[in-house]
Amino acid sequence: MLLLGIETSCDDTAAAVVQDGRKVLANVLASQDEFHREYGGVVPEIASRRHAEAVGAVIEQALSRAGRSYDDLDGVAVTAGPGLAGSLVVGVAAAQAIAFACDLPAYAVNHLHGHLFANYLENPDAPGQRPPRDPFICLIVSGGHTDLIYVESAAQHRIIGRTRDDAAGEAYDKVARLLGLGFPGGPALDALAQRGDSSAFDFPRSLLDDGSHDFSFSGLKTAVRYHLDAHTADATERAADVAASFQAAVVDVLCAKTLRAAEEFGVGTVALAGGVSANSALRTRMRELGSARGLDVLIPPLAYCTDNAAMIAAAAYYRGELARVPVAKLHADPNFAW
Ligand code: KG4
Ligand code: ZN
Repeated sequence: MLLLGIETSCDDTAAAVVQDGRKVLANVLASQDEFHREYGGVVPEIASRRHAEAVGAVIEQALSRAGRSYDDLDGVAVTAGPGLAGSLVVGVAAAQAIAFACDLPAYAVNHLHGHLFANYLENPDAPGQRPPRDPFICLIVSGGHTDLIYVESAAQHRIIGRTRDDAAGEAYDKVARLLGLGFPGGPALDALAQRGDSSAFDFPRSLLDDGSHDFSFSGLKTAVRYHLDAHTADATERAADVAASFQAAVVDVLCAKTLRAAEEFGVGTVALAGGVSANSALRTRMRELGSARGLDVLIPPLAYCTDNAAMIAAAAYYRGELARVPVAKLHADPNFAW
């Protein structure tokens, strides 16, 4: 089964061709970073306009790289939400047009399901790795979400914990801004932290031992801000230490809560998903701690952690009828609930 995936929920225009929910024949992405950089964040109007300009070419390129045509497709999957309304609507309109014109079934995919199902794609970093074995715990850490999911099966999953304030990615972006690292902040902070001492400063690990599966990162962000305000003289010099110490606090909490959930739910596998799972410290730490407890630790390759369309096609394949909608009813839903 050959699916075209389309993803335009935020500021990346993406299209992919995926076979049987696992084999990625093409995964194309047009980044808009250069257009948003000078504003220090994503500007919704610019994002929407750039999607409209790029989406046609990105889809054509995905098909051509896959060596397939519209005639070869068995369906079109698109992110319907959550996301920016003006961005979502561009991908949805493109998907709807293709589905109508080629008489194909359409799949409305929840963006967060997409991140989760990135773990089902063939992983070029780990040839031969099988899809996750149910049940498992998935930590979704993106720019807008930090959710712990108990995955019973591809059709059944439940949020067991979430952030009570900022998402992990949001905290990365805000702290990156405090450190003057520009946009996008997460990857820049990750790189800077690699040169710093993670034990230099003791930043708070909120809700670490509260017994819940929830997260909170706004206190940590504020602690970093107070720290920088109080140490203006050596702040620049020690920026790498601040970055590394902040990152250690985030990673400690993410790993501890995920592993505790795995223990409580008695699962043998934990999986990471979402943009922050591209973080080098989180990847290393989760692998180390998970393996030490005898768990399978699944981490998608970098290109499938951050926003992409291959994960959207995978989610449509595995969710099947649960994601399928009549073509005429396909619509953007910025608040698409899990
Ligand atoms: O999943 P994603 O690409 O888009 C959303 O659905 O939000 O996640 C984007 C988030 C941003 O906050 C970005 O700063 C963060 O993921 N991110 C990272 C890294 N790469 C992306 N955070 C920390 N370290 C990274 N290497
Ligand atoms: Zn995302």
